[in-house]
Amino acid sequence: MTTDISALPRPPLVKGMPILHSLVPILKNPEQFVRQKYNDMGDVFRVRAFNRELTVMAGIEANKWMGVEKRGLFTSEINWAEFTEKANCPHMLIGVDGECHSYQRKILKPYFAKKSLVDRLPMMQEIIEKQVQSFDNKVVSVNPWLKNLMSNQVGYVMQGREATQEETDAFMFTQNTITNIWMFKRWPSLALLNPYYLRAKKVSDNFRSKLIAWNRDRSSKSLETYMDKIEEGRKGKPEWFTDGDVEAHAMLPYVGGVDTAGGTHCFILYELLNHPELLPRLRAEVDEAYANGSPDHETLDGMNDLHGFILECMRLHPTGFALNRNAAEDFEFGNYRIRKGDELLIFTTATHMDERYFPEPNKFDIERYREPRNEHRQRHVYTPFGRGPHTCVAATLAEQQLMVNFATLLRYTNFEAEVPLEKLKKKYSPVAFMTDNFTVRFSKRSV
Ligand code: HEM
Repeated sequence: MTTDISALPRPPLVKGMPILHSLVPILKNPEQFVRQKYNDMGDVFRVRAFNRELTVMAGIEANKWMGVEKRGLFTSEINWAEFTEKANCPHMLIGVDGECHSYQRKILKPYFAKKSLVDRLPMMQEIIEKQVQSFDNKVVSVNPWLKNLMSNQVGYVMQGREATQEETDAFMFTQNTITNIWMFKRWPSLALLNPYYLRAKKVSDNFRSKLIAWNRDRSSKSLETYMDKIEEGRKGKPEWFTDGDVEAHAMLPYVGGVDTAGGTHCFILYELLNHPELLPRLRAEVDEAYANGSPDHETLDGMNDLHGFILECMRLHPTGFALNRNAAEDFEFGNYRIRKGDELLIFTTATHMDERYFPEPNKFDIERYREPRNEHRQRHVYTPFGRGPHTCVAATLAEQQLMVNFATLLRYTNFEAEVPLEKLKKKYSPVAFMTDNFTVRFSKRSV
């Protein structure tokens, strides 16, 4: 029997204030807000925030649909339309669906495969080892430090060169401003006239042009760069790689990688400080891994305690906790009617706190990820890197980066919080970090 979708009711609406509706709690802590409403209202509901309406879809069924079963029901193109139009990049990987997206992923796949990352591991290590050498009783402001570290590692490993601190600050500020205006609609477009933004944009545009020119003109091609893959894609399908698309793709690793990976590192550092009882065990594993110098790929793969710690942090603090999409057609979900074009928020990590899949979900437990429990391997439930065709293209690289950076920090440094941990809160702008008062004192550890 086929359901008459038009006869179904709309998903229930979250009650909010007049005019602003739920805008204030959403801006303050969107993850907590959506989780609370999910607990109260179930797998599907609508939320209004001033003049926008979002339909939230959550739970294992939503994850299944996003993953494989009904992925055609969801589009990224509408959500990114203003961004791709104004930035003149109609085929940017993250904002395009269908054949064009599949082609781009196919081109990039070998570049992000584990085999290709093996050669880049020492480059990643070089950057973090250089940084920790200066950590001699040094107080570090965690958020800017991590953004800079992510940018340096992504730049060096993928583009063959690092961005300066000024360039990183400039392109991250530029990206944040335009995504908050054009995509998340959190800021008014007046922010584009802010002189600080205009200065940052200039530095950012200049950096991007230098990056593309440097990649094309470099004499040694011994290291295949990510931009080489973009140029390869352009040769095969020039219509899907206009000049504007190539420019946007040059910046995509930073757009996709600096905040998501930076925020994840931030929460892991926070949890290390929050769980001093686990440090001796983690350090023992790390010291063993360093028995013959900096650990290689296989050694890192065998570090179950550190890996479990990282996976547990990503379960509890997923920086990409939900995905923005639009409905590509009318459909039914949970006996409610979703209309073509509806703005959707797929709360993919709702399952992370579901005791059916992660018993005692509030307990910090690094044993979940070992045999025989392997809770993260249950299908459709562990999703820190998203679901479906746009799942993080760099997930393997990101996991490698997390392992390398925390193995190095645990090996060579001692660290203590400079601010009581209870004074830290999560902030979202839009990706989650701890508040900017998160400072840590690093000192050298004798090994
Ligand atoms: C712990 C670190 C990271 C997390 C938690 C993370 C999370 C995510 C998530 C949830 C998505 C899906 C977005 C969506 O479907 O709308 C995504 C996509 C993406 N990520 Fe990551 N990411 C991380 C690191 C990185 C890094 C280091 C890079 C680049 C070097 C990167 C590049 C990308 C790109 C380009 C996409 C878009 C893929 C596509 O549209 O096909 N990410 N990431």
